[in-house]
Order: sequence, then C-alpha cells, then structure tokens
Amino acid sequence: MEIKPQALFPSYVWSTLFNDRKEFNSNLLKHCYALRDKDPVGVRKSNGNGWQSDSILQNLDEFKDMNLRIIQMCQAIGHSQLFEPNLIYRHQAWVNISPPGAYNKVHYHANCHFSGVYYISLKAPDCGSIYFRDPRVVSRMLTLPTNQQTDFTSEEVHMPPEEGRAYVFPGWLEHGVEVNNSDQDRISISFNVFAASAVSPVG
Ligand SMILES: [Fe+2]
Repeated sequence: MEIKPQALFPSYVWSTLFNDRKEFNSNLLKHCYALRDKDPVGVRKSNGNGWQSDSILQNLDEFKDMNLRIIQMCQAIGHSQLFEPNLIYRHQAWVNISPPGAYNKVHYHANCHFSGVYYISLKAPDCGSIYFRDPRVVSRMLTLPTNQQTDFTSEEVHMPPEEGRAYVFPGWLEHGVEVNNSDQDRISISFNVFAASAVSPVG
C-alpha cells in the first residue's frame, strides 16, 4: 500500500545569502553603531538586554541599499506566490545590536505581509538562532509520541544565523531569538513589509 503525504497550508521561511556580503556588511556595520551612538537608549519591544533602533531605516539614506534589497526580496517572494502585479511594497526596518546575554521573546508582527531579518555581524554558532513556533495552534493540544523531529511533528524550528543571510517569513509566524552566548555583539536588521495596490480604496 502506497501512502502519499500532501502538505496543506505550509508555512514558509524564505532565505537568501548576499554574494557581496563582506563589503556590504562592513559598510552597514558602521551605520548601525552610528545609529546607536545617536540614540543610546533605543526602543524596548521583544528585545531582552539588547539595543533596538526606532523603525526609521526606510527614511535613512545610509541604509538605501539595504532598503532596496528588502523590497526586492519581498517583491520576488510576492511574485512567486502570485501576488497581484503592480503592488507597491512599503517597509519599516530597524537595527538590532544584541550583546552577549541578549535575546528576543517570542512574538509576531501584526499588519504586515512579510517580516524578516538580515545578519550583519555575529559569532556563530553560539550567538543565538532565530526560532519559529508551529502556527498550527490546535496541534498543541496533543504531543505526538516521537523523539525525532519531522516537518509534521516539530513544534519549534531553529534556523542558524549567518553573516550575509536574510530570512523572510509571514508576519504572523511566531518567532523568538535564543540568548547570545557568544562573546560578541550579534548585529542584524529586521523589517516588516506591506504590499498594497497603488490605488487604495478611499472611504
Ligand atoms: Fe520579530
């Protein structure tokens, strides 16, 4: 008897690695620390023991190339998922500087189609992975009798951080970041993206 599985309603995390990451990141790194120097307190959201900038990168010229790549990634994903053509993709982005001991509590991002993170500088493997929680909340009612994780049985998936890598995922997918157990800052840029038609309905 042949039994075939079929995935229904899959939750995707899209990933890419920038080819020019070395030069691109060394440039970004300076701007990230300069931003913190201007606003040493930052904002407090899901971040524990870490510094987070205001969501202002989309307005800053020194982050112009990163902003463009965020939009390009999400346009490509939207295209792959047959989003309407001619949508305008808007985003907000912010810097995270997470020193040793910093982490992010589990959270999600409301009111956006995509969220993501791009890694600028870190010390792998102990700097803390981003992890995603199973969005099939009703499945939490019953633990499955297995010690090995499969796509079907997993409750949490950890994705390794890497300099020059971006992860993009639906804003509703719950995620957190492990404690940075390395001896260096983990520096990343996070973003939310919303795609809307050029002509918005006016009430
Ligand atoms: Fe997040």
